[in-house]
This record gives sequence, structure tokens and C-alpha cells, in this order.
Amino acid sequence: MFKNDELLNLFSSQETPFYYYDLKLLKQTLQSAKKAADKRGFHVHYALKANFNDRLLSVIQAMGFGADCVSGNEVQKSIDTGFSADQITFAGVGKSDKEIVTALKHRIFAFNVESIQELEVINELAGQHGERANISLRINPNVDANTHHYITTGLDENKFGVPNSELEKAAAVIKGCEHIDLIGLHFHVGSQITDMSVFKSLCVKVNEWKSWFEDRGTYIKVINVGGGLGVDYRDPDGNPVADFEAYFDVFDKFLERNAQQEVHFELGRALVAQCGTLVSRVLYTKSGSKKNFLILDAGMTELMRPALYQAYHKIEKIGGDGSEKELNYDVVGPICESSDSFGKEVLLPVSKRGDLIAIRTAGAYGEVMASNYNLRNEIRYLYSE
Ligand code: LLP
Repeated sequence: MFKNDELLNLFSSQETPFYYYDLKLLKQTLQSAKKAADKRGFHVHYALKANFNDRLLSVIQAMGFGADCVSGNEVQKSIDTGFSADQITFAGVGKSDKEIVTALKHRIFAFNVESIQELEVINELAGQHGERANISLRINPNVDANTHHYITTGLDENKFGVPNSELEKAAAVIKGCEHIDLIGLHFHVGSQITDMSVFKSLCVKVNEWKSWFEDRGTYIKVINVGGGLGVDYRDPDGNPVADFEAYFDVFDKFLERNAQQEVHFELGRALVAQCGTLVSRVLYTKSGSKKNFLILDAGMTELMRPALYQAYHKIEKIGGDGSEKELNYDVVGPICESSDSFGKEVLLPVSKRGDLIAIRTAGAYGEVMASNYNLRNEIRYLYSE
């Protein structure tokens, strides 16, 4: 894709670094997800935390997705973008009073509640403001997502969800709260999950917990299984769109439910990761006795994932015909931190100052996690339709 002369021409005149978003690929991805979900009657909320770029959000909203938010500002942004309030969920272990009130005023679809104390606070604030709140209880299913430990969330040792030992008490507290209605259960086991058996294990736990509540006379209308579907960071051109059919099929097959019970998802990465590329220029090349370095004008300030999680992103030189001699490079950024590296020993065509480099699959958790450490410039963008 990046050998394409048209793109090289488009990029050549641009100041770097910038995020390039391929909106055509975004639309294809969204259509594929929507089709697979609609076919099964599933509801998908886009997890804004993956990317809240305005252009992307308006495309996602126009396609009929709901929104999954983790802050009052994300709730407000969803509303401002046109997402309908009755398709907005609000999750997070530490919602402030102000954020809760914002969401109450907008009468969102549901709060995903993570502790007994939070239940009590939402009930109290709803009462004070003359509102009612729908809530889903987040249960920690203790399923190992087999992913990076920083993005595993569903184990007993993680901070997320109401501890299983407190669920009995939570159910009793809810019964005593006048201003909240329990509509469902919420689960999320982690992110960048490519092994479908993890989702099957999740379904087994969801079925158990749903029965547990139903046995106690609590009707569960909404089953929210979170997000987490992974993408192919190694081969973005071979697999530009995640296998939504296979993913939704697991839940369709293994979740026990009746025709009135709704299944909800909160997908972030799988919807936006592949449409984004961080485009950068080589500032300097440097060869030591052991290493060749490509020093880019983009760094961990633009894309933090490699520095923070040792995450792999495919690195490519833009342009060229593929016949050039190749060399192993450590591809690094300009920031004053040793962890500011995009990849070690990356085989690339011999490169020189001014060459353009693409860091692929950067549409999710890229731009949103950027910082202006070292007083870096604001992020720039380029879009293609
Ligand atoms: N729902 C909940 C409750 C979540 O915590 C998350 C992600 C999602 C949905 C969306 O998950 P997704 O479909 O995107 O996997 N910054 C990390 C990823 C952190 C994910 C946090 N939670 C990264 O760059 O890999």
C-alpha cells in the first residue's frame, strides 16, 4: 500500500510527523463490523478511548454505532458528535461526581458500575438531580486474556469490576436504591485478543453469572461483553479488516439468552487501528560499531505504544520499488528517553535523511495517548477518502 506513488506524492509535500487516516478503509471496517453485528441483532458501542479524532468520530456516528465512554468529557463529546444518548455507556473505576452528573443529565443508556460505593454515589446524585440511572454491574470474570499484562483487565488481581465476593451485597444494595435500575451485567477481559477461545471462556462465565442473578430473581436485560478484539499488527495489508464474523459468531453460539435479552459490545481497536498510520521523516542516520540508527522526527510523544508496552508496529519506508539494498536499523525518535524507540533491528531499504517512514496500525491508542513532553508540536493530520 505504501509503495503507491500517489501516496508518496501526497505525503512528500507535508510537514512531518502526522497521522494519516484512510477513511475508506475505516468505512470498510465499520461496514464489515456492522453487517456481522446486525445479522445477529447485536449492539456495538464504539470505545472512544481508542481514538476520539473528530473526523473519525463523525464517520463512526453516521454508521449508527453507539458510544462507550470512560470520562465525562467523552460522554459530552459523544453527544456533541451526534451519538444518541440512549446508545451511550459510561464505564471506569473512578467516575467523579461531576462526570456522573454530566452523564445523568444526558440520560445515557447505562453506567457500567465498578464498586458498591459507586452504586451508592450514583443513586444519591440521581436523587439530588431528580434523575434515574440505568446501571450494568461490571463483574470480573477471572478469564485470562493471554495478552500483554498491561492490557489484561479481567483477572481477580486487576482493579476492575465489583469483586465476586461482593456481588451478593451489591445485589442487595441495588434493591435498596430508589434512583437506579439494574438493567444488565458488564464484562471486559482485556484488549488485543486474537485467540477466539478467550471469548468462548468469557461466554461460559457470563452464562454462569447471568444464571446466578436470575436464580436470585433479578432479570438481566443487557449482557455487555466489552471489547478486546485484536488486529494484525504484523500484516496490516494482508489483514486490514478484523474477522468480525468469527468474533460475533463465538458470542452468538455460546452466550445463553432469550429473544428479549440484548447483547452489547464495546469495540475500540478493531474498528480504528488499521486505518491510521504515523508518517515521519528520517532526520538523521547514524552507524555505530554494532548498530545502524534511523532517527525519526516522530517519537514516543506521537505514538507511545512501543515505549510503554514494547508493542510491535510494522515500520516501512514509503516509496521505492522494493529492489533497494536492505539494512537492519534501530528506528528511534528524538525524545530524551532511551525507551523512545519504535523497533530494533528492523530490516529496511537503505535510508537517508529526508526519507519518509510509515509506522503502521497506529489508528487505535496512538493519537489519543500522545503528549507534548519535551514541548513537542501539536499532532498534525492528513486524511484520504
Ligand atoms: N471496554 C472496556 C471496559 C475497556 O477497558 C476497553 C479498553 C474497551 C472496552 C475497548 O477495548 P478494545 O476493543 O479497544 O480492545 N492503550 C492500550 C489499550 C488499553 C485498552 C483499555 N481498555 C494499548 O495501546 O494497547
